[in-house]
Amino acid sequence: MKVHNIKTSALTLALIPTLANAHPEKNLKDDRLVLGFELDRDHVDHTSARGVHDHVAQVRGQALVTRDPVGESLQLMGPGLDGKGAYLLVAESVEDFGHMPTDAFTATAWVRIDKGTRWGGIISAISDNGDREKGWILGYDNDSFTFGLSTTGADDGDGRLTYIDGKTKIVPGHWYMVTGTYDGASANLYVNGQLDGHTTEQHGSVLYEQQTPVAVGAYVDSNELHTLTGRIRSAYVFDEAISSEQIASEFERNRVISEIKPISETELEWTVEPFLCYATQHAVSIVCELPVAAAVRVRYRAATGEVREIHSSEKAGIHTVRIEGLEPGEPYYYEVIAESPDGTNVKTDPMSFQTAVERGKAFTFVMIGDTQSNPEVVKRVSDIAWSHRPNFVSIAGDLVTTGTNKSHWTSHFFPNMRPLINRVPMFPILGNHEKNARHYYEYMDLPDPEYYYSFSYGDADYFMLDSEKPMGPGSEQYLWLEDKLASSDARWKFVVHHRPPYSSDENDHGNSWLGPTTLGDLNPRQMVPLYEKYGVDIVFNGHVHVYERTFPLRDGQAVEHNGVIYMTIGGGGGGLEDFTPFNPWFGSKKVSTHHICYVEIVGGHLRMQAIDDQGRLFDQIEIRK
Ligand SMILES: [Fe+2]
Ligand SMILES: [Fe+2]
Repeated sequence: MKVHNIKTSALTLALIPTLANAHPEKNLKDDRLVLGFELDRDHVDHTSARGVHDHVAQVRGQALVTRDPVGESLQLMGPGLDGKGAYLLVAESVEDFGHMPTDAFTATAWVRIDKGTRWGGIISAISDNGDREKGWILGYDNDSFTFGLSTTGADDGDGRLTYIDGKTKIVPGHWYMVTGTYDGASANLYVNGQLDGHTTEQHGSVLYEQQTPVAVGAYVDSNELHTLTGRIRSAYVFDEAISSEQIASEFERNRVISEIKPISETELEWTVEPFLCYATQHAVSIVCELPVAAAVRVRYRAATGEVREIHSSEKAGIHTVRIEGLEPGEPYYYEVIAESPDGTNVKTDPMSFQTAVERGKAFTFVMIGDTQSNPEVVKRVSDIAWSHRPNFVSIAGDLVTTGTNKSHWTSHFFPNMRPLINRVPMFPILGNHEKNARHYYEYMDLPDPEYYYSFSYGDADYFMLDSEKPMGPGSEQYLWLEDKLASSDARWKFVVHHRPPYSSDENDHGNSWLGPTTLGDLNPRQMVPLYEKYGVDIVFNGHVHVYERTFPLRDGQAVEHNGVIYMTIGGGGGGLEDFTPFNPWFGSKKVSTHHICYVEIVGGHLRMQAIDDQGRLFDQIEIRK
């Protein structure tokens, strides 16, 4: 698209010859200008914005000038790790500012609201403390624009604000020209040049609290700060009520701004929002994907520490940032900002993660399997997992229906696993549905060779295997696992792979309704001697879309002590399956339902709970050693 790069703003092309290509015959109101900001590169630097009449506003918080097809604007990035958003402080107080209009005025701005919030401010000189309500604000409340003011005519002794709530529904990411006028007897709110709301409740002079700040991009008073998340191109205040005809014509002049497409293929947005992977005591990976070239900045800090920053280099596609040098078991806060070469950027809300706890420390984890289909179930299951605030989540394969289909990752798996994976690190393993696709290897940041790996968490070691690859004696995975198990000093040992060594599935391993079944997959069953020899406590698997827990098993028998428990936890979303018509020798508990498995470990005590997608507990075991 051609970049017009015209300077445009409500009532400004015509009115502000120094700032725009004005038509001289229309310079009717520049003598009525009280404040004016054109928020482009010519007028904004990192710390300040220059306006008309030599006004200099301070830039508070994270804000930067960004380009769009029509020109430039100031992007206010929303609350960051300090909990505060960005805005322009025009004056510390109405008194300092000196000439706020009282008899009549117009406030107007071109804005893009990216996130509807309560009490949002576009231009404010307001004070609302208890019953003391003074000044005025051009702003928004969730999805409608507002214009509020307090005058002598409606004064109840200490000022009383009246708010006009506009009827236009704000669409996030769209540009609007928003204008409030007051002529001493009535107040009007205009959106895109059209009347959007009106009141005659206020009349007479505007009442001001002299100590209240004057701000652009926020509602600020002595005890409140509500910043705008979005963009502002221009903000102007005049000391007269501009006519509806002129407001309409100013909108028409700049209509092109309102037609900027909110999000397009070429605009920077998350293909995959940042998620957490493979946390250790000192590190965690943050992975995200972008459709266009951009650098990724991860900002993070401990609860009370200083903000640190890691950059990835500029490229389109998947970015993996590994944060190192962290303390064990600690919560950290992070946000991710992607910035394209033209200065456009997207930013996450402030998020959190937690590093792995040391040996001897208690922790919890969630097991989920087979999130491959039924998006609404996957969302329910991951929300239930999140509601338990586990230390980490492990996913036992079949994350998606078809691993080679990118949209199954970008549109199904990642979106439905939030907010869980924004805040809880994930430890996945491959299932048959991943088809060993490169997408899995690109998205997941795991130790090489990735299809098998191990990790430690507290008093437990976890051994992650790929049951699509050979698992028999002499195989790469068998040799690796034997070596790892033999050298593990962990009090608890868990194995995770997708296919079940033991299963009561009705038809996966032979039609059990009519004849023989192997009652499980013979590839992973070759690992059973290792599990028994080295004292694995629980083997978790998915693949069969049910919940099944075996008795403790050893030497082909159910045993009271020192057996290995096999748990099928394949209820993460895939269509449910059914069981053999009889109970095999290992069968302890079977439930065909969508679910998660929640495990707590403190010292030598383990408690496992199976919880369905409605949050109901349906199985529980405890192990003590
Ligand atoms: Fe599956
Ligand atoms: Fe499967």
